[in-house]
Amino acid sequence: MDRPIYLDYNATTPLASEVIDDMIPFMKEHFGNPSSSHYYGYEPRKAIEKARQRVARLINCEPGEIIFTSGATESNNHALRGIAESCREKGNHIITTAIEHPAIIEPCLYLMNKGFEITFLPVDHYGRVDLDRLEKEIRPETILISVMHANNEVGTVQPLSSIKSIIGERDIVFHTDAAQSAGKIKTDVKELGVDLLSLAGHKLYAPKGIGALYVREGVKLPRFIHGAGQEKGLRAGTENVIEIIGLGKACELAADNFGDNFENMKKTRDLLAEKLMEAFPEAKINGHPLEILPNTLSISFPGTEANQILGKLDSVAASGGAACHSGEVKVSHVLDAMGIPMDYAKGTLRFSTGRFTTTEQILQASEDIIEAVKSIAD
Ligand SMILES: Cc1ncc(COP(=O)(O)O)c(C=O)c1O
Repeated sequence: MDRPIYLDYNATTPLASEVIDDMIPFMKEHFGNPSSSHYYGYEPRKAIEKARQRVARLINCEPGEIIFTSGATESNNHALRGIAESCREKGNHIITTAIEHPAIIEPCLYLMNKGFEITFLPVDHYGRVDLDRLEKEIRPETILISVMHANNEVGTVQPLSSIKSIIGERDIVFHTDAAQSAGKIKTDVKELGVDLLSLAGHKLYAPKGIGALYVREGVKLPRFIHGAGQEKGLRAGTENVIEIIGLGKACELAADNFGDNFENMKKTRDLLAEKLMEAFPEAKINGHPLEILPNTLSISFPGTEANQILGKLDSVAASGGAACHSGEVKVSHVLDAMGIPMDYAKGTLRFSTGRFTTTEQILQASEDIIEAVKSIAD
């Protein structure tokens, strides 16, 4: 059997071949420790700084504002726990949203246990935060606002620059989890107005286990991993040279081919949406109609169950928006916060297209999905 058609690019992406090509010399000849002052340290050290420039270019910041991490989870933990620690004297209130990834929710719950007050902002039916509500929630003790750029399940993009306008000159650090947006939509730290931004390599055709944290010049972030002085002393430990180089190349590719990638993701996603809505007019697409990632299709088939559809669908790799445990269906916290009715939420699938998705794949996948959904709904 052929391998299933991959429509789960929001879960992870394959490595771009150019990324592999750039990493190979650092697996073979350039094995030195970047901190070494002799010959062997030179190439890895130079390559790390080149990668830093490439990441910085993708999000429009200075290379010195990038710290390499192990991924978006670590970047988020560093940002949230770091600001909580450094601003504790000023206040103990943090604002985030109800639809964040667990990589934000869990550090927030950890901080709550340490005495911080966390406001989880509700979202509307499209998954967007209510700006009036956000403004009302800001208090003199608010030290940090963390709002994801784009949601991983439904693709809704948040109005970050409007949030920045609301924050204005207040002394509040503004963080965003951009794991899903970087490389898919314009992610410019200056336009967005953020102070801290988290990135994950494996969502943009770099390896798993590498990421970055943007720390705006002037923001005081304490060190997260104690040890030697790597990454400006904030994240000690010998650098993950090979993957840092992979991330740098992936960011360069994302910046250079932005338009073509965007068009392909959107064209294939829209075709899939069209085919599925044609077959199931009662189905509903979740997420904002316009402010949405170009590659994400969250679609609910009423009267079905996501796991049952996926069970019948061995020719397509996708994700469910609800999971069945011991006979009980548990809907994702994102669909729940958006107020998607249970009958729809239960039968929600997430398809996400990517750089390598073809029209032929979508035509084949849509036939297979339609057959699987029909077999459940009958
Ligand atoms: C929005 C968002 N944040 C954070 C993460 C975590 O990324 P990583 O597993 O690379 O740490 C993900 C991955 O699914 C994500 O989609």
